[in-house]
Amino acid sequence: MLSRIKEYALKHNVPIITDAGLLFLKEAISTYQIKDVLEIGTAIGYSALAMASYGCKVDTFERDEDMIIDAMKHFDMFDEQKQITLFPFDALTYNQDLRTYDLIFIDAAKAQYKNFFEKYNKYLREDGIVICDNLSFHNLTPDMVNRHTRQLLRKIDTFKNFLTMHSDFNTTFFDVGDGMSISQRKMK
Ligand SMILES: C[S@@+](CC[C@H](N)C(=O)[O-])C[C@H]1O[C@@H](n2cnc3c(N)ncnc32)[C@H](O)[C@@H]1O
Repeated sequence: MLSRIKEYALKHNVPIITDAGLLFLKEAISTYQIKDVLEIGTAIGYSALAMASYGCKVDTFERDEDMIIDAMKHFDMFDEQKQITLFPFDALTYNQDLRTYDLIFIDAAKAQYKNFFEKYNKYLREDGIVICDNLSFHNLTPDMVNRHTRQLLRKIDTFKNFLTMHSDFNTTFFDVGDGMSISQRKMK
């Protein structure tokens, strides 16, 4: 059934997690015994439904109205909808408190990853992890792209440096899907 949502995404050019990326996420959910997930970037609900099908409770942010409508339509098709709460808001300006999570999955506007990480890591449990997707950006290099995309590539690089240098987190980068990372809080 989830494959129907993947087909819908392909048909309507909605960017969703790659098959390899989803497998990576599934393995991380099992390895780290993840139960509660905060996702930033629902799109049409594909990864949220997948994580719910792996047994997680998922709170997920989406700011785009059309995506919100499609995601709600898709959630309604699955029993797993019980495990999912859609926050139809911009995650950058949302100002209510949240519960705490074992996993924060960042898969939204690339230029804002550092802001998402800084704003939401306080909702991570002591032994929780942050996973980011799209860190390789289709393996593009600055010489292949226009000025706007070059700026975005620079921002992604800056974010990767920020993660590498972060005093509270250990980050590993993985050449899987569109480039993923796992950041785990350092033991005190
Ligand atoms: C790559 S798609 C998410 C794909 C989805 N995680 C999946 O794999 O099925 C990114 C989504 O993030 C949303 N987004 C971007 N910035 C956001 C923000 N500040 N707050 C909430 N949603 C945001 C976009 O509207 C877009 O639908």
